[in-house]
Amino acid sequence: MKIAIGSDHAGYDYRRMLISHLEAAGHEIIDCGCEEKVSCDYPVYGRKAARLVKSGACERGVVICGTGFGISLAANRLEGIRCVNCTDVLTVRMARLHNNANMIALGARVIGEDTAKLLVDTFLETPHEGGRHALRVALIDSLPME
Ligand code: RB5
Repeated sequence: MKIAIGSDHAGYDYRRMLISHLEAAGHEIIDCGCEEKVSCDYPVYGRKAARLVKSGACERGVVICGTGFGISLAANRLEGIRCVNCTDVLTVRMARLHNNANMIALGARVIGEDTAKLLVDTFLETPHEGGRHALRVALIDSLPME
């Protein structure tokens, strides 16, 4: 799968770790930065990754900041982006099954490295359930940005 990944300085180490993990599993990664582990602005990198998902250049996106909050908020400013900030397997599964989330946000200061890998794997492996849930997702996507 082609995956966009981005982080700020707080997510820098986790991003590099997840890139290795995902490439070892055979995924193609587009790395949106940040370039260095120095203080920078998470909206820039959340938006870069979200743009690749919105355009269809990447099927999914993974974004990381200290909490996962700021970078998910930035990604969700783009139409068609459904970015969820998760800390456990159940919510990742439900975000795929019911909400067809196309991006996941992780908090590098909140979860451990093994949990981050497990959540990303779950995010990539879990299908969308479709049916009534697809209708609701379509309703979300039809809501205008006000
Ligand atoms: C950076 O210190 C931190 O604010 C950022 O990584 C993120 O947690 C924001 O939501």
